[in-house]
Amino acid sequence: RGVMDKQSKARLHPCVAHRGFSGQAPENTMAAFKLALDYPHVKWMELDVHLSKDDVPVVIHDGKLERTTNGKGRVIDYTAEQLGNLDAGSWLNASYSAEGVPALEQVLDLAAGKCRLNIELKGDDADYDRLALRTVEVIRSRGAEAEHIVTSFQPAILRAVRKYSPTLAIGLIIDDNPADLIERLLALDCTYLSIGFRHMNEKLLEQAAQASVVVNAWTVNSPSDLRRLANRPEAFQLCTNYPDRWLAAVEGK
Ligand code: G3P
Ligand code: CA
Repeated sequence: RGVMDKQSKARLHPCVAHRGFSGQAPENTMAAFKLALDYPHVKWMELDVHLSKDDVPVVIHDGKLERTTNGKGRVIDYTAEQLGNLDAGSWLNASYSAEGVPALEQVLDLAAGKCRLNIELKGDDADYDRLALRTVEVIRSRGAEAEHIVTSFQPAILRAVRKYSPTLAIGLIIDDNPADLIERLLALDCTYLSIGFRHMNEKLLEQAAQASVVVNAWTVNSPSDLRRLANRPEAFQLCTNYPDRWLAAVEGK
């Protein structure tokens, strides 16, 4: 375990911008995704997807609108156009009032050729099968099945994604580290694991490497946690709201 230089840290621990650069701009908006892409080292972004009333995958974390928009009620009760016209930015700062709830296809187009996406399917209130099918269709319409990864806390959603796409990479999200985790991943055909970073340990990283499973540690925001994890010798992704703090950590600042 020799001393790692900046390049090897960046290579071993790629930065995943969580909900875009959500430490600075309103989460899951085009502004947050564009800001993340201003950092050339951001080669991955994470985002959350729900289904709209008219079956369009849209990008928002909660199943309800109140926390991050000026709308009321459930995402599933509004069309994608209505959601796009909401104000999804003022809750953080009035200067972002023009940001709406984006459709997944807008983020796919923004990221095309620049950045890979970790697309988390949330599925509160939605028909899992429909959510999986529509997401696969939108990714396929962009010819991007080989680029991106679909993740979920719900194994049933991942099974549905696999039913509609034999090739899309899929990953389980978990905030735990059960003894049979790798077996569960393999049974679901997952090649990716998003794990709450406090549950990640040397044994799991070793088992994941043996099983060719890529590990994403979420969500690492404090400079001290970022520095500590960026100094680990094993390979895993670091998911953070702060791509600027990630950069400082891998540069040893
Ligand atoms: O990708 C994992 C992480 O984003 C899950 O938690 O609540 O931020 O969607 P949450
Ligand atoms: Ca998420």
